[in-house]
Amino acid sequence: MGRRCWRRRALAAACLGAALLLLAFENSLSSGWLSGKRRSPLQMLYDLDQGPRSALAALAAEHRQRRDLLRRACSRHTRRQRLLRPEDLRHVLVDDAHGLLYCYVPKAACTNWKRVLLALSGRGPADPRAIPAPEAHAPGRLPSLADFGPAEINRRLRAYLAFLFVREPFERLASAYRSQLARGHDVRFAELLAYLLDPRTRRDEPFNEHWERAHALCHPCRLRYDVVGKFETLAEDAAFVLRLAGAPHLRFPAPPPGAAAAARRRAERLFRDVSPFYQRRLFDLYRMDFLLFNYSAPAYVRLPAP
Ligand SMILES: *[C@@H]1O[C@H](CO)[C@@H](O)[C@H](O)[C@H]1NC(C)=O
Repeated sequence: MGRRCWRRRALAAACLGAALLLLAFENSLSSGWLSGKRRSPLQMLYDLDQGPRSALAALAAEHRQRRDLLRRACSRHTRRQRLLRPEDLRHVLVDDAHGLLYCYVPKAACTNWKRVLLALSGRGPADPRAIPAPEAHAPGRLPSLADFGPAEINRRLRAYLAFLFVREPFERLASAYRSQLARGHDVRFAELLAYLLDPRTRRDEPFNEHWERAHALCHPCRLRYDVVGKFETLAEDAAFVLRLAGAPHLRFPAPPPGAAAAARRRAERLFRDVSPFYQRRLFDLYRMDFLLFNYSAPAYVRLPAP
C-alpha cells in the first residue's frame, strides 16, 4: 500500500467533515448505487448530520459524539504506528451492493452481523435467523477488504459506510472464555488469564481473534469508522445501521430475553475471583479498548494503583 495513500487516508480520518464533503463530490461522479435513486449509507449519515432535527438525527448526533470521542482518544493515546497492510484488514467485511464495511469483533454480535450481511447481500435466506452459525462464519462467504488490492481498498474506504460493534472488554473476554474454553475443555479462567498475560504468548503470533483487542482487529485509529456500535445498545445501533443501509425492514436477530444480564453476571462471577494485581494487568492489556470506546472499569473490578 502506497505510503502516500495511507497518509492521505490518515488525514481524511482525522477530518471526517472534509472526507464527507469530498465524498459528496465523488459520489456524483460514480455509478452503481451511487448514481441510483437511493442514497448511499454514507450519504444518508451525512444528510442526518446536516438535516433538520428528528429522532433519527438525534441518534446520528449521538453517533457523532462517539466518533469524536474515539478520535480524541486516538490522538491522545496512540503514537506513530506502522503502516497498515492489506492483510491487516481481513476482519473488515465488504458489502459492495450496499456500500458497507463491517469490521467484525468476535463476541460482540458478529455472528448475527454476518447473518444479516449474508441476508442483505442475497447470499443467504432473506431471514437472517434462518442462517446456521457455522455457515455465517464459513471463510469466504463474505468478501473481506484484505481480498482486494490497494486501489480497490482505498476506493471502498473512501466511499463506504464503515462500522464496527464493540463490547465492554471484560465481559467480551468472559464470553469468549465461556464459548471457546469452558465447555468441555476444562481450562480454568485463571489459566486463560495467565496465558494472556504471559509475554511469550504474543511473541510469535497475535492472540486468537476471540481475545484479541478490538482495536487490534479493526484499527479504529487508522481507519475512519462512521458508526461505532455497541453490544450494550445492540438493538438500537443495529437498527440505525440497517436504516442507513436502506434496509429498515430487516430485523436484526434479538438475543434471548435476559441474555445480556446473564452475561454480565457471569463476567462478574469470573472476575470477582481474580486478584486485584491480575485485574490491573488485564485492565492494562485491554486498556485501549476501554479508552477508545468509552468504557469505564466495571464496578466489580478493584484496581490497585498502577
Ligand atoms: C461516555 O460514557 C459516559 C459514562 O457512561 C457517558 O455519560 C457519555 O455520554 C459517553 N460519551 C459518549 C460520547 O458516548
